This record gives sequence, C-alpha cells and structure tokens, in this order.
Amino acid sequence: GAPVKVDISNLEEGAMIRVEWRGKPVWVVKRNKQTLDQLNLIIQQNKLQDPESAEPQQPLYAQNKFRSIRPEILVAVGICTHLGCSPTYLSEKFQVQVKGIKSGFFCPCHGSKFDMAGRVFNNVPAPLNLVIPPHMYLDENTILIG
Ligand code: FES
Repeated sequence: GAPVKVDISNLEEGAMIRVEWRGKPVWVVKRNKQTLDQLNLIIQQNKLQDPESAEPQQPLYAQNKFRSIRPEILVAVGICTHLGCSPTYLSEKFQVQVKGIKSGFFCPCHGSKFDMAGRVFNNVPAPLNLVIPPHMYLDENTILIG
C-alpha cells in the first residue's frame, strides 16, 4: 500500500483524524498538556502491561513515554491487539476505571483498555500496546504514514 499523507493543520486538542493505511484504520490524535500529565501519572502508577513499549513492533522513535515523535501528536493503528476489533476513542467524557484516567481507548469486544498513548492496561485480554505505524513529518502540519 502507498503511504498516506495527513494534514493536521486543523486538528484541535482532543480531536482525532482517522485515515486508512494498508486497509487498517490509523488514528492521529492531538493531546493536550493535561493528557500528557496524565500519561506521566499512569506510568508511575504501575498499571500498564508494557509501560516502556519494549515489544519489537514499535518504531524506535515511539519508544519513549508518549510513544510519539512529537509529544502532543499520537499516531497509532486503531486495531486491538487481542483479536482485532477497533477500539472506541474515549475523550474526556468517559471515566476509565483507573483512578485519575479520563480518556483513552476502549475495546468493546472483550473490554481491553488503552491509555492516550495506546498503552494497554493490566488485567485485560489484549497482550500488547496498540501498534505505532511507521511515519514521519514532512513539515509542521503534514504526517506521512507508511
Ligand atoms: Fe479487543 Fe478482544 S478484540 S478486547
């Protein structure tokens, strides 16, 4: 499949752009400072199966605490790592059952939960964090996925 260009110049904080890449949904989400603070908190709380994203399917530039090239922009494949359903994006409206967490991704099929960096919580069926696809920035507002 061809690489996909995403224009994020109009992407507001908390919003998501969905594109298709190689037949898969890819999400681009803009996180605000509060969300980034929450991600730091979640790491400290020991609630994640793989807080460091150590599994080999992650690009090197996603092996950091926000799993992204730019802290505020998450680019992730929107497919649950359990059996392949597409999780629902929970913005601040939904209270995930972990103290202090107000947003993330919830898989309706068997209840897996992921934080706003796509990291999987403990005690859910999904074994791995959401996949970060290969991508790069062509300029400030243009991402090339693939
Ligand atoms: Fe997502 Fe099973 S496919 S929890």
